[in-house]
Amino acid sequence: MLELKNLVFEVPVKEGSSETRRIIDDLSLSIPDDTFTVITGPNGGGKSTLAKIIMGIESPTSGRIILDGQDITDMSITERAKSGIGYGFQQPARFKGMKVKKLLEIAAGKKLPMLSCNEYLSKVGLCSADWLTREVDKNLSGGEVKRIEIATMLARDPKLAIYDEPEAGIDLWSFDRLTETFRSIHDAGNGRSIIIISHQERIIRLADSIVLLQDGKIKATGKPDEIMPELGLARRAASGPACALTEPTRLHITEIPTTC
Ligand SMILES: Nc1ncnc2c1ncn2[C@@H]1O[C@H](COP(=O)(O)OP(=O)(O)OP(=O)(O)O)[C@@H](O)[C@H]1O
Ligand SMILES: [Mg+2]
Repeated sequence: MLELKNLVFEVPVKEGSSETRRIIDDLSLSIPDDTFTVITGPNGGGKSTLAKIIMGIESPTSGRIILDGQDITDMSITERAKSGIGYGFQQPARFKGMKVKKLLEIAAGKKLPMLSCNEYLSKVGLCSADWLTREVDKNLSGGEVKRIEIATMLARDPKLAIYDEPEAGIDLWSFDRLTETFRSIHDAGNGRSIIIISHQERIIRLADSIVLLQDGKIKATGKPDEIMPELGLARRAASGPACALTEPTRLHITEIPTTC
C-alpha cells in the first residue's frame, strides 16, 4: 500500500525568487495493493510531478510518502526502485549504444531467455525478430521509444508501476494491445498495483479508481462511472474564460518595447 500524506511541492516563481508557486498542494492519497488507479486531469495539473515525487526524482517541500508501512520520503531513486516502485516517463530517455535486449535485461535484473523477450515486446506490439538488436537511440520514433520503455517496465515487473501517459504517440493498433496488457496485469491479482496517468477514456474505464488532479489538488476520486461526468466539467472549468478582445486595442506597434 502506498500512502501519500499532505504532500506539498513548491518551486520559485522564477529563478532566484523567494516567492513560490505550489505545484502539489497538500495532497493525501492511498493506493492499496492490487489496484489499478488512473490519475487524470488538465495539462499542468501536477500529475507528472506527483509521479516524480513518488519515484524520488523530485523531493517534496513537505509531506511524507509511506510504502508498505515504511517511510520512503528520504530514500534515493535506486532505493525506491529496489523497494518495488517503477516509473515509465512521459518522455522516455534514449540510450545510444544500448540494444533493446540489453535494456530489457537491465530492467529485469537478470539474463532473459528469448521467450521472455518475445513476450514483453509482443505485449507492446513489437516483433522481437526486428527489435531485439535495435539500438534505443535517436533514430527511434516517439511511439517506438515509448513502447520499448513500457516493455522494460513489464520486464522489471515492479510491485507498484507508474506509467505516465503510456498511450502518448502510440498508434491505434498498438493501443488496443496495450490496453489488453494493462487489463491482464490488473486481472493477475498478484499484489501488483498500477498507477496510470492518462487522458484516454479507454484507459480511464479500465481503472478501479480514478483520481482527478487539478492545480495540484485532488478534485475528485471514484469509480470510472462516478468520475466520467466530473471530467467533462473539470475540463471546461480548467479552460477558463475565453481570451477574447472585447474592444479594439489602442496600443500602437511603436509602443511595444523591442529590447529586453
Ligand atoms: N521543477 C519545476 N520548476 C518549475 N515549474 C515546474 C517544475 N515541475 C513542474 N513545474 C510546473 O508545474 C506544473 C505541473 O507540471 P506537470 O508536468 O506535473 O503537469 P501534468 O499534470 O503532468 O501535465 P500534462 O498533462 O501536460 O503532462 C506545470 O505548470 C509545470 O510547468
Ligand atoms: Mg505530465
